[in-house]
Amino acid sequence: MAPVRTTGGVVVAAAISIFSMVMLSHLLSSKKNILRLSKKKKEKARNGLVDAIGNTPLIRINSLSEATGCEILGKCEFLNPGGSVKDRVAVKIIEEALESGELAQGGVVTEGSAGSTAISLATVAPAYGCKCHVVIPDDAAIEKSQILEALGATVERVRPVSITHRDHYVNIARRRALEANEVASKHRKSDQMDGKPVKQINGYTSDEEKQSSALLNNSRGGFFADQFENLANFRAHYEGTGPEILEQTGGNLDAFVAAAGTGGTVAGVSKFLQEKVPNIKSFLVDPPGSGLFNKVTRGVMYTREEAEGRRLKNPFDTITEGIGINRLTQNFLMAKLDGAFRGTDMEAVEMSRFLLKNDGLFLGSSSAMNCVGAVRVAQSIGPGHTIVTILCDSGMRHLSKFYNDEYLSQNGLTPKATGLEFLGIK
Ligand SMILES: Cc1ncc(COP(=O)(O)O)c(C=O)c1O
Repeated sequence: MAPVRTTGGVVVAAAISIFSMVMLSHLLSSKKNILRLSKKKKEKARNGLVDAIGNTPLIRINSLSEATGCEILGKCEFLNPGGSVKDRVAVKIIEEALESGELAQGGVVTEGSAGSTAISLATVAPAYGCKCHVVIPDDAAIEKSQILEALGATVERVRPVSITHRDHYVNIARRRALEANEVASKHRKSDQMDGKPVKQINGYTSDEEKQSSALLNNSRGGFFADQFENLANFRAHYEGTGPEILEQTGGNLDAFVAAAGTGGTVAGVSKFLQEKVPNIKSFLVDPPGSGLFNKVTRGVMYTREEAEGRRLKNPFDTITEGIGINRLTQNFLMAKLDGAFRGTDMEAVEMSRFLLKNDGLFLGSSSAMNCVGAVRVAQSIGPGHTIVTILCDSGMRHLSKFYNDEYLSQNGLTPKATGLEFLGIK
């Protein structure tokens, strides 16, 4: 038994040592991998939420690159903490307003927005010790107000009317900031008047005062973010997104393309790249109903009848969200564009499904439209070029329309393509 035991012992010992060697070499090689990984990802811990915004990855969209013969690169803005490209804008708007003294810590930032900007403002405001008040049309999806309220913002849902009406949600948001400033100034004055609050009757605050105070809750004044006209929006991209794209491509790029809502992204990036990259061409891709395509290609935005403000509410009908507009904003006016392409709703829907199937990219409607634009640019400038676009947000915020089969079918937008035939690529 003993020799057997000995033999068995030897066999077991040999097996253990072989196993150990294999494990050791496996460990060493995986350690190398870990080392390689940590080397690749060597990045310092970021300082809080605000520092985690921007410096998003630029990825090669493999399917589109292979199909077009161009390098098509997408800036992954959906990876920002607030889920969209608008995080950069929210930070810049708040920081500039705090710097200029127009917004005080503890003050309230107001915005009229049914979309990502409001969510980004509500996300970043607490990091600056500020509050956020959002005015949205009451036909906007209820999830939007729910998200905003969950983030701690106050939400006012109002009747949708034309932008020229004093009660358009953007105009109400502007007014709320002014009201907050009035309340704050009254508080300051009342503090100076023996501590007696203004408008107190027999020790009770008047109803009007109560309403504003409740809405703007002990505010230290208000500031209207005004993403359409506030050039902090443009600067967020001119100083952030543009330089990041330059660095990530090493200046090796031929074209940039994006759709415009406020115009901040396309303007900031196109202006920056035009100054830094010789021969770069920047393009707009425009959704149905928007007047910008005409403005870029023909210099005329709309007929008098089509002008925004002459129509009751939404002057156009597109499934895409956050892009397309029928007025020229201060932000868009900063853009340096070489041309424009039109994109259809059907193309955006088909593109989103194509990218999901081929690349695992789950993107929102504006990102899908931007990718349509990238393919159009590739077809126009030919193979061998590098084209950058923006992946603004993910599909998560687009479940009720853009990713809803029933909604798509009711609107004749059911996707059918098996490849990129909807853009003429076999
Ligand atoms: C999801 C989404 N994508 C794209 C845009 C357009 O970007 P910009 O306003 O910079 O033109 C917006 C604007 O609100 C948006 O919300």
